[in-house]
Amino acid sequence: MLKYIVYKTKTDFTKKYAELLSAKFRLPCLSLDDAKDKILPGESILYMAGIRASKLYDIKKAKNRYNIEAVIGVGMNSPSEQYKLEIIENNDLKQIPFFYLRGGTAPEKLQGFDKLLFNTIANMTKKTKSKENKNMSDEDKKLMDAFFKGVNYVDADNLKPIIDWYSSYLIIQDMIGKKYKK
Ligand SMILES: Cc1cc2nc3c(=O)[nH]c(=O)nc-3n(C[C@H](O)[C@H](O)[C@H](O)COP(=O)(O)O)c2cc1C
Repeated sequence: MLKYIVYKTKTDFTKKYAELLSAKFRLPCLSLDDAKDKILPGESILYMAGIRASKLYDIKKAKNRYNIEAVIGVGMNSPSEQYKLEIIENNDLKQIPFFYLRGGTAPEKLQGFDKLLFNTIANMTKKTKSKENKNMSDEDKKLMDAFFKGVNYVDADNLKPIIDWYSSYLIIQDMIGKKYKK
């Protein structure tokens, strides 16, 4: 039975979503670093993490330590079924329920390698977009703002599919519990 929400964040968008779900599900939420001393290995968790170059932060570490019942990836890309499948594929998540949420960007909070990689991607994208079209489309302008200024897409309404999944999960857990009591 799911007992905790564990998250890994670098710019706090995943943390914000984790706190919203924690309040909704009445489950404690902890960062992966804090969980190390507070949650026993093998415990059932919902794992949430930011995405870097299509990989979820510390997914291997979390998988090795805990029993992950569902995974939520948080990224800047707009949600689509195709992108979701790409993340499932890249993180070996075929056996686990997976949800994608749009977080945001906060270039000023990035450090070290993340900052370097993000700036490289931002500058490369800018170059490609300007080459493609001298007058950038509104969509491209929004993307440039996300790369160079920062943007926040966090919205409680995005959590609906996860809340629906959790309701079904609880019903199934209840049915399993009753079967074993008989
Ligand atoms: C170096 C770097 C690479 C990123 N790569 C991706 C990516 O492949 N796909 C995506 O959707 N977002 C990508 N992002 C955006 C982050 O996933 C996004 O900012 C997310 O909200 C981060 O979560 P956090 O705030 O919890 O750390 C990248 C960000 C950085 C810094």
